Amino acid sequence: MSHSIIFDTDPGVDDAQAIAIALRHPEIELLGLTTTYGNVDVETATHNALLLSELAGRGDVPVAQGAAGPMVKPRYPAPAHIHGANGLGNIDLPAVTGCRDPRSAAQFIVDTVNARPGEVTLVAVGPVGNLAAALQLDPGLTEKVRQVVIMGGSIGEGGNVTPVAEANMFNDPHAAQRVLTAGWPLTLVGLDVTHRCVLTQEHMSRIEAGQGELGKVLAGSYDFYRDFYREFLGIDGCCPHDSCALAWLLRPELFTTAPGHLSVVTEGAAEGQTIFAPEGRGFIQERWSQTPLAEVCLETDGDAVVEWITATLA
Ligand code: BDR
Ligand code: CA
Repeated sequence: MSHSIIFDTDPGVDDAQAIAIALRHPEIELLGLTTTYGNVDVETATHNALLLSELAGRGDVPVAQGAAGPMVKPRYPAPAHIHGANGLGNIDLPAVTGCRDPRSAAQFIVDTVNARPGEVTLVAVGPVGNLAAALQLDPGLTEKVRQVVIMGGSIGEGGNVTPVAEANMFNDPHAAQRVLTAGWPLTLVGLDVTHRCVLTQEHMSRIEAGQGELGKVLAGSYDFYRDFYREFLGIDGCCPHDSCALAWLLRPELFTTAPGHLSVVTEGAAEGQTIFAPEGRGFIQERWSQTPLAEVCLETDGDAVVEWITATLA
């Protein structure tokens, strides 16, 4: 089955790997990249999205720029120690020749979904302000998208930027609360599964060999990202978080999911925490089962996912 997608992203080393998949996979029609701040500021994210597309020979893919900061809270500084100040491991990058789409990311999403109702899947792998803004422009989007897949959150795994919060949810919890409770067909691909996947140097060598000019950027940025994983997490390799959203879309049989009700903590010490109430389970208050049903990933075969990523790009 093929998928027509808009890929919403903050590239970002692991975003770049996922963008390479979106640009290359024969079962993906990439309708556009929409950008957000997150791993970098939004101008850098847009620059990187244009660059990665051009290096893949896909300068035809529209890139629309979106959120420069969170909806409510102040923006945290970008994590330059993880992704590099340029988002791609501080490696030297070639010049970009193309220009971005003049529309905002939210307008691009609204226009694209309305042009093909029922056909477009939104895959978001950064803070989700662009999706929240699109819903504000057109609340009817919930009935018109085919699917929404979000890399973010954590059900039982704990957080990666606070003890309870995953980065994309933490960066804009108000947008996340809006998007995760919108009542559209949504799957959350969070740390419970992305932490089961480790992309090693051996995988990256195969990817580099298969990706031409883009491969040099993927491999160079990987080196920087891997150093972070080694130093801070003691892992020899990196978690390809954002590629997991595409792996779920294309190879759902590699994942175990469960239906339930999601909400996101927007204030206080637990801001950005995703709360999951399994469908049918009673709690002391009904509030936990009042948000619309969504699907969450709980387990995966990490080796198989990483092999799928590698084989797609090699
Ligand atoms: C998510 O946060 C970002 O740093 C990564 O690109 C990924 O989208 C993982 O928590
Ligand atoms: Ca990301």
